[in-house]
Amino acid sequence: MHYDAIENRHGLPHDPLKALVAPRPIGWISTVSKAGICNLAPYSFFNAVGEKPGYVVFGSAGIKDSLKNIAETGEFVCSLATWDLRTHMNMSSASVPYGVDEFPLAGLTAIQSRFVKPPRVKESPVALECRHFQTIALPGAGRYTQSYNLVIGQIVGVYIDDRYLRDGIVDTPAMKPIARLGYMDYAVVGAENTFTLTRPDVDASGHVIPGSAKG
Ligand SMILES: Cc1cc2nc3c(=O)[nH]c(=O)nc-3n(C[C@H](O)[C@H](O)[C@H](O)COP(=O)(O)O)c2cc1C
Repeated sequence: MHYDAIENRHGLPHDPLKALVAPRPIGWISTVSKAGICNLAPYSFFNAVGEKPGYVVFGSAGIKDSLKNIAETGEFVCSLATWDLRTHMNMSSASVPYGVDEFPLAGLTAIQSRFVKPPRVKESPVALECRHFQTIALPGAGRYTQSYNLVIGQIVGVYIDDRYLRDGIVDTPAMKPIARLGYMDYAVVGAENTFTLTRPDVDASGHVIPGSAKG
């Protein structure tokens, strides 16, 4: 099949787009309101888009509570959603009224961050503490009037649980990060489904020497 994405008449029972950009990492976004109430929610339209300095982005359908808090206070934290925390992560996505703190709702502990006010998820092995850079309103198209908002944050602090550092290298598979596929499906990263590829080299005469593969 091959369809016009603005018309979006794919003829399938469900929109396939999210199943095509997969797996998507989950930014588990914590914020705090001006009144000091915490908020936590998962966003899988999420990624890191730069490293020196680091930047992250996430996309929100409309203006959700996380965006309201970020607009008020200018800070957020992205904790890593893992296999062990999958049901907690899911609970934190409940559509509860503004002002309800999802940390206790999801059975999680809010622990103080180091560089920003919103807390991180204590049970999670990684947290990226971010300062809000910009929010861009993305226009609707065709019969889609829902506006998406792209939030960009600069990473100002990084927390890593030392138990996942082995000889100075982060053991990502040991943390078992989870990622979103399409529909209600997820993937989990483990040692059994990771591999190593070194980048190709180009020698002095311009010949490309292929990288090596392991795993
Ligand atoms: C795994 C997962 C990923 C999600 N990704 C997004 C997303 O990228 N954008 C979005 O608007 N909502 C997303 N949602 C839904 C939000 O988490 C949900 O609307 C939540 O209530 C928003 O919380 P907030 O209003 O406290 O910010 C996702 C839900 C789940 C379970």
